[in-house]
Amino acid sequence: MSGARVVRIAPSILTADFGRLAEQVRAAAAGGADLFHLDVMDGHFVPQLSFGVEVVAAVRAATSLPLEVHMMVAQPEAHFASFAAAGTQTLLFHIEAAPDAASALAAAHATGCRAGLAVSPDTPVERLAPLLGALDQVVVMLVHPGRGGQRMLDAHLDKVPQLRALLAAAGRDVPIELDGGVKAENAARCAAAGADILVAGSAVYNDRVSPEAALGELRAALDARD
Ligand code: DX5
Ligand code: ZN
Repeated sequence: MSGARVVRIAPSILTADFGRLAEQVRAAAAGGADLFHLDVMDGHFVPQLSFGVEVVAAVRAATSLPLEVHMMVAQPEAHFASFAAAGTQTLLFHIEAAPDAASALAAAHATGCRAGLAVSPDTPVERLAPLLGALDQVVVMLVHPGRGGQRMLDAHLDKVPQLRALLAAAGRDVPIELDGGVKAENAARCAAAGADILVAGSAVYNDRVSPEAALGELRAALDARD
């Protein structure tokens, strides 16, 4: 690997075996995960219901790696304090669920956490332009939120350079994260688009390979970049 940018890998636990979650978290940490991505769904912003603060606290107890909570929830502000107390470092919520995203970002920061915005596939990145001075991270969704194991909508990779240009114009250099459908086969393309963090759920937690081996495959794909 030449002087290629470092790209961090954030396993999503959504498709992990919840009957042995701590073991699954430790396995991904041993395999080289940089942080963990926790997909919280409320059954309103997305039809699915996933998990809440108790699971975040359980993951917190299982690893010292940073945690980020991806809040696919309506009224995200109502939950910032409880997820911060459960031990997450970063609160990520959807611009589509935040009519006043600037005040929501301020509320998230008031908990002491980092705060970032996620954009769903149908939301143009230009919607973020007025907020780029107030956030610490952007999540570009490459699947429609709600489930793991979906196929990447790779046409949306174009959002990364668009967003990078908007960030540069705002004088900001914050991490851009890609979330949804990331696999070893497309990881290099995601990195080439300019992503800083790749979320990988079913690529890491599946019945084909161990989390350690899966992370090795993802890392090898990133290291193979020219
Ligand atoms: C989808 C979630 C993603 C998903 C990633 O709504 O936000 O984080 O769990 O899982 P994969 O990598 O399997 O698409
Ligand atoms: Zn997610």
